[in-house]
Amino acid sequence: MNSSAPIGIFDSGVGGTSIWKEIHRLMPYEHTLYLADSANAPYGDKSKKRIKELSRKNTELLLEKGAKIIVVACNTATTNAISELRAQYDVPFIGIEPAIKPAALKSKSKSVGILATKGTLGSDLFHKTSGKFSEDINIIEVIGKGLVHFIEKGQLNHPKLKSLLVSYLRPMLEAEVDHIVLGCSHYPYIISAIEEIIPSHIKIIDSGAAVARQTKAVLEQNKLLNREKNTPRLEFFSNLETSTLTYLLREYESEIVIEKRDF
Ligand code: DGL
Repeated sequence: MNSSAPIGIFDSGVGGTSIWKEIHRLMPYEHTLYLADSANAPYGDKSKKRIKELSRKNTELLLEKGAKIIVVACNTATTNAISELRAQYDVPFIGIEPAIKPAALKSKSKSVGILATKGTLGSDLFHKTSGKFSEDINIIEVIGKGLVHFIEKGQLNHPKLKSLLVSYLRPMLEAEVDHIVLGCSHYPYIISAIEEIIPSHIKIIDSGAAVARQTKAVLEQNKLLNREKNTPRLEFFSNLETSTLTYLLREYESEIVIEKRDF
């Protein structure tokens, strides 16, 4: 594998760009290829079988385009499909999972909230991880049903989104959580809406930066870090419309290419 090949990243839609931003910040010379499978969003309500099929489809497209590593920038796809992907394809995979561990270790109230999709919270991988902490920590799991719909449309302050958040965060506030883990890569885009609802002492934990560090470490281990210091190719493909990608990535407008493709 060639170290100047791109890092391939996929998500059910635009949310994984929150992870792309961390990857690009940490490794500014890496070429990247991002697939937003927005036509199939949300993954969170789909069966495990369907999530695996979609994850394979995205992986194969990224591999056809020469990706040297695949970042599964989606908690739902990671928790339901990454072990099969690793078994099937001969390329390193990096996944994202709700960061329960740091939240559990830091919690003083011994109560933490997790906001994630149904697919993530219902997965064996999530149960395995949360099971390690659930004896000592009260874990309030809430399905963020419907949130991805607004984020996919770029409606980050929509009144309906805010009223959903009020109802999803209420059980966490009642349980006196001091950490809220964002278990979906779309949710970093609604941190301000969340902060309007919760008291300021509650910390919001998201794993994007940790995923970028892990991606760098695995590239280094495999001698796949790009040694060339040229302007990178930063390509984004969506199989729906591209306006939300354009909006969320507006600060990178002059550096990136966004295209609509069928996949
Ligand atoms: N962004 C995804 C995640 O991290 C999936 C959201 C969805 O499509 O339901 O879980």
